[in-house]
Amino acid sequence: MNPEKKFLIGALGVMIAAGCLCGSGMLLAAGLILGRNTDSPVSGTIPTSAGLPSSTGANKAVSTQLPADPPQSMATPTATPSVDPAFVGSEGIGDPYFPNMGNGGYDVASYELDIRVDMEVEEISAVATISARALQALGRFNLDFKQFDILSLRVNGEEGVFSQAEDELVLTPARMIPANSEFTVEIAYRGRPGGGKEYGGIEFLEGWNFYPGGVIVAGEPTGAETWFPSNNHPADKAAFTFRITVPEPYVAAANGVLQESGQNGDRTRTFVWKMEDPMATYLATIAVGDFDLLEGTSRNGRPFRNFVHAGIRDEMDPGVDALPEAMDFFSEIFGPYPFATCGIVLHPIDLPFALENQTLIVMGYTFAYGIVVVHETSHQWFGDSVSLASWKDIWLNEGFASYAEGLWWEREGGASALKEDLSRRYRFLANLPEREVNLLGDPGPDHLFDPEVYYRGALTLHALRLNVGDEAFFRILQTYFRSFRHGNATTEEFIDLAEEISHRDLSDFFKEWLYEYPLPDLPELDLYS
Ligand code: ARG
Ligand code: ZN
Repeated sequence: MNPEKKFLIGALGVMIAAGCLCGSGMLLAAGLILGRNTDSPVSGTIPTSAGLPSSTGANKAVSTQLPADPPQSMATPTATPSVDPAFVGSEGIGDPYFPNMGNGGYDVASYELDIRVDMEVEEISAVATISARALQALGRFNLDFKQFDILSLRVNGEEGVFSQAEDELVLTPARMIPANSEFTVEIAYRGRPGGGKEYGGIEFLEGWNFYPGGVIVAGEPTGAETWFPSNNHPADKAAFTFRITVPEPYVAAANGVLQESGQNGDRTRTFVWKMEDPMATYLATIAVGDFDLLEGTSRNGRPFRNFVHAGIRDEMDPGVDALPEAMDFFSEIFGPYPFATCGIVLHPIDLPFALENQTLIVMGYTFAYGIVVVHETSHQWFGDSVSLASWKDIWLNEGFASYAEGLWWEREGGASALKEDLSRRYRFLANLPEREVNLLGDPGPDHLFDPEVYYRGALTLHALRLNVGDEAFFRILQTYFRSFRHGNATTEEFIDLAEEISHRDLSDFFKEWLYEYPLPDLPELDLYS
């Protein structure tokens, strides 16, 4: 991102802070902050199986205990056995933007993450148990994972051989996994999770980050690999259980519903959270801090729970109150809220950042404006429940959440408030230097969170509404949500559905908005006010 663009985004953030209704452009300002612990990945291979805690043979029940006294480093490497390429799962799931993200050959059903957090030395030690189904016979397969010390690794209870290269962990099970069978991988690991990444030339909060007094985790788009091994792509959604042990008096929150919590007698506490609905890996999150838990129920009976750091409770922005209102409002216009609960973690950091983690939105406390809360809440429908199948379709997340902001303004202030919001977005885009414009339907991996994606995405939906009329438009949104709820959707599928419901050929319409550069006219907007 060049300085000019950075300034524009910063300026938008300031306008929002001053009370303007600019919408989510300032979310981008998040990227300017908190780039830390960027441990450069160690390349090379550490093939090993020797020195692991002793193997107990096949079909052993998988334990979730942390290794009592794990070895500090791995011993004598063992040569990686050769495997017939026909039985090797691919190292990517086929995303054109992130060729190494996700993996081929299997589908994950659940992750169980047992994580002990050391807040002093800023390390974690963990056991990840992954239950998956083989989509082909597998003599070798990959998980996406940063370089941690692997303390033990078992597939179906038997010690496996592994190597680590860049962001990939390559596993060779002791026995071939038959096609269509279910299998379990159990990996014990330890180390310092790394956050921070460069997108478009600026540091960007991504991955697991310790800050003084807390932990904030933001996985979008690829940061899950900084803290647990996974099939790291939204195309493979799975259930999650988190068992998080933290020193007292810290509280650990995660996605979903709290199952149990208790003291361990060693000045630590363990919190068990469960997310039963399918979730993309980038939406998995943990928050550690000295939080108060604030629970409530929306007007229409939807439970929510927020975590607010004790030290900032009095300074808390009333914007947080928009959460239950937005859960009810979007339930009426998109379809019933898809999860058991929702909530916000307000981290005590001055960070213009928010991320729509499934049921657990995270934010810097200085960024908890009502409209940002509304944006993130709407992502629970579009982005979280209906997930991307490919990152190039990011407008299906950000364009929808930005238009949801407009719908919120419309509810508050009628058609003129919506028009004002969209006109601002239109003017911003119309003034962008030509060289900075990206295609909405294919923005490129370094521009996933650029203003075009948010603003032009919102304008595209509004143009669609003008084209097909209100009745068909809202039926399109509702049918899209109902059809792909807890699954994945593509731009093509959205277009097909819009054509089917409106009985119109929308191919030229979407081509102009998504796959051509010039900004189409939107004559009803007051562009020069
Ligand atoms: N999806 C977020 C939002 O618009 C932006 C997140 C950017 N990702 C990140 N890891 N900083 O609400
Ligand atoms: Zn968003």
